[in-house]
Formats: sequence, C-alpha cells, structure tokens
Amino acid sequence: MTLLDGRKVSNEIKDEIAAEVAKMKAKGEKVPHLAAVLVGDDGASLTYVGSKVKACERIGFESTLVKMPNTTSELELLKKIEELNNNDDIDGFIIQLPLPPQIDEQKVLMAVDPSKDVDGFHPENFGKMALDMSTFIPATPFGILELLERYKVDTKGKHTVVIGRSHIVGRPMSILMSRKGWPGNSTVTLTHSSTKNISQITTQADIIISALGVPDFLKAEMVKDDVVIIDVGITRVEDKNHPKGYVIKGDVDFENVSKKASFITPVPGGVGPMTIAMLLKNTLLAREQRKS
Ligand code: GUN
Repeated sequence: MTLLDGRKVSNEIKDEIAAEVAKMKAKGEKVPHLAAVLVGDDGASLTYVGSKVKACERIGFESTLVKMPNTTSELELLKKIEELNNNDDIDGFIIQLPLPPQIDEQKVLMAVDPSKDVDGFHPENFGKMALDMSTFIPATPFGILELLERYKVDTKGKHTVVIGRSHIVGRPMSILMSRKGWPGNSTVTLTHSSTKNISQITTQADIIISALGVPDFLKAEMVKDDVVIIDVGITRVEDKNHPKGYVIKGDVDFENVSKKASFITPVPGGVGPMTIAMLLKNTLLAREQRKS
C-alpha cells in the first residue's frame, strides 16, 4: 500500500510556486495577490481561510482577508465583489463557502469576474472545464488530479466511482476523471444520497473518490482488493480528550480499508493540503494571464 502523501506533495508544489515568485521579485515584477472573502464566523471556514492566507505569506504572495459579519446582505457582498473585480492589484479571489442563508450562492458566484475566479466556480469556467478548454479547475479536484499524476496512478480505462455530487468536488471530479488524457480516461459512476445499493457499485470500483462528509462511511467490505482510495471528507467530530475539543475524520474507515488498498490518502494530510496548493497555483496562473 502506498500512502498518497498530500502534505509532502503540496509542499513540493508550494516550493515550485515560491521559486516562480522569487523569479518575479528578482525581475521587479508584481507578485500574485490573492484575496479571500469570509462571511460570518463558521469555525471550520475560519480555519480554512486562515490556512489559505498563511500559505500565501509562506510562498511570497500578497494576500488580503476580507471578513464580513454574519448579517451581511447579498447586496453588500455583491458590492464587495464588484470592488475586488475592479481592483487591479488583486489577481484572484475566492468567496469562502458556505454563505449565510440570506445570500444566494449562485448570484454571488456569477458576480465574480471569471478571469479572477481562482476557485473555478463561475459557470463560464465550469463550462470551459467540461469542454476541455483551458481554465481554472476547482482546487480540490485539481489537487486530486495532481496527486494521481505525481504518484503515477494508472486511471486509463479504470472504473472510477465518485461519491457525492457537490458543485465543488463530486460533480467536477466526475467530469475530469472522464476526460481524455491522464489522469482521466476513466469510466465514471457518480453516486449520491439517492443511490441505491451503493456497496454493489463501490465493490466494482478501481478508484473511489469520496466527498460525502460522513465519517467512516466507506468500510472494508465495500471495496475490492487493490482499490485506489481518495478521501475528501473532513468532518469535525467532537473529542473531549483532544486539546481542540474535536478531531478531523475522513469518509473512509482508514484502518481497515487501507489493508485492501493499493493507494490511499490519509485524513488529515491527504487531499486537504493539496486544495490549498492548487488554489495558489491557480492564483499564479491568474497573475500570469493578467500580464499578457
Ligand atoms: N468551502 C469548502 N471548500 C471550498 C473551496 O474550495 N472554496 C471555497 N471558496 N469555499 C469552500
């Protein structure tokens, strides 16, 4: 069994990006600038956004964190987005999801200038991705492709089962794994909460990408030998014995499933760090595109 070490690979990618930034600085060029908008005070979102900003600092990007209260109206957020769209110093920005219920997520994502949409959530960019055109690929699916590539995982003609149809992970992942080329070229089954007899499907899978958010959902009896497991789940589970009061759990019963797997991502330290690295990569791409 090979552990798909997202922490190690993400550090390699960050080092590669940092080297590009150093070259930009040496030439006296502007460095990439990422902004992140956080509406409300959800603990997990605060942690994720904090990690994104910290990663920017580490590799020499500029970063701006825009914090807005939980009571922010849709109009106020749309105004902030307009401001970021028009701010020439910002190369890319993200709106951290989920948003409070008074705000229509679709309206917000549509308002982001597609050339600054480093999350790849705007319909123009999502459409380009589906049509194999060059664009920003959402960071988590992009990170998974990068992990598969760097560990040389064979995906051609394999049966990939994606669990979860979210716009951020499951849906784009199903499209990307079915595209021509590598990593991809898989036969893809997209499963979700209405799927019947999911074990019957997962036991046929060569590759399982689980983005469900249910701790320990995928058990050893649900997979075949030598399966490749990508666990996207990151659920906080209360644990009074832990100093933080919680532990992070993936979708996969790692202890037992790992005994059958050929490749598997740990949680934490698998897909999570890759997401941040690929967001930085998209921001570098956004800066380069704005130069030309
Ligand atoms: N919430 C959970 N994942 C993501 C992500 O990749 N980007 C944004 N903006 N919000 C998220």
